[in-house]
Amino acid sequence: MAVIELKDVSKLYGFGDATTLALDEVSLTIEEGEFVAIMGPSGCGKSTLMNMIGLLDRPTHGNFSLGGRKVSRLKPNRAAKIRRDTIGFIFQSFNLLPRLNALENVALPLTYRTNMSQTKRLKMASSILERVGMQEREYFMPGQLSGGQVQSVAIARALVNNPKLIIADEPTGNLDSQGSRLVMELLSEIHKMGNTILFVTHNPELTRYATRVIYMHDGQIIQDEKTAIGQVAATARSGMYNVATMTEEDDLAGVSVMMKTKPHKETKIPRKRKPTTKKRSPTTKQNSAKRAKK
Ligand SMILES: Nc1ncnc2c1ncn2[C@@H]1O[C@H](COP(=O)(O)OP(=O)(O)O)[C@@H](O)[C@H]1O
Ligand SMILES: [Mg+2]
Repeated sequence: MAVIELKDVSKLYGFGDATTLALDEVSLTIEEGEFVAIMGPSGCGKSTLMNMIGLLDRPTHGNFSLGGRKVSRLKPNRAAKIRRDTIGFIFQSFNLLPRLNALENVALPLTYRTNMSQTKRLKMASSILERVGMQEREYFMPGQLSGGQVQSVAIARALVNNPKLIIADEPTGNLDSQGSRLVMELLSEIHKMGNTILFVTHNPELTRYATRVIYMHDGQIIQDEKTAIGQVAATARSGMYNVATMTEEDDLAGVSVMMKTKPHKETKIPRKRKPTTKKRSPTTKQNSAKRAKK
C-alpha cells in the first residue's frame, strides 16, 4: 500500500521578486516498508519535502495523501493530530529540552494522554530507551551525553507514540562516524520492524542502509533509484551528489567510498547535470514559479 502519495506538489515561499520555488511539481509514491534516502545539494528542497510529508507545512499546489487519506488542505489542528499519531520526527539539531533528563524528554510526546499517569508515561519512555540501548543513561541530562547518545534519545522520543512513518532530516548531520553508525543501525532496526523511513543525508556511504535513493535538484526529483541494503547506491557512488555542501566528515567518508569503489568502472552513470552550488537566477525561479502556478 502507498503510505505517501504526492501528485504535482509545489511549494512557493515569499512573494513577487522574492519568490522561491522550493518544490517544483513533485510527484512521488512511497510504499509501506520502504527505507528512503533523500540526497541533493543544500537548498534543493529536501527539508521542504520532509516538512510537507510530515504535515509541518502545506503545499501551495498539488495533491498529497498519507495512508490513503487526502491531507494537502488539512486544518492545522487536524494535521497536528495525524502527525502526533502517525509520524515520528528526528532532526539534525536533536531538539531535546536541555533541562529535562533523557527519560523526561522521551515521555514528553505522551503528555497529551491525560488519562495516563505520569508514572505510566515514564515507564513507557524507559522501555523505549531500553530499545535504543540508552536505559542506563535515562537520568542523564542531554549535556552529559555524546552526540550519538543524544540522537538515540531523540529517536526514542520519535518512537514513543508508535508511529508508522519516521522522518529524519539529516539525522547524522551533527555526528561523527561512530555516532552516525549508531543512529543508522537504530533506524535499520526500526525499519526491520515494518516501519517506513525517510531520511535526508549528504553522505553517500549511508545509502547502504536504504532500499531506495531519491536525488533532488532545484526543487525537483531528478533521479529515483532502487538499491540493495548493504550497497552504496550507484548514483551516490558516482559522485553526482553535491560534494561542496558536505561537512569535512562526510567528505572523508565520501572519498573513502570512491576509493573503495574505483574498480567498478563499468557502472557508468550518465551525468544529467553537473554538481553545482550555483543558485538559480531570479529569472529562472520566476519562470519555474509561473510554471508551477499553471
Ligand atoms: N520558510 C522559508 N521561507 C522562505 N524560503 C524558504 C523557507 N524554507 C525554505 N526556503 C527556501 O526554499 C529552498 C529549499 O530549502 P530547503 O527545503 O530547506 O532545502 P534543503 O533542505 O535541501 O537544504 C531554499 O531556497 C530555501 O532558501
Ligand atoms: Mg535541509
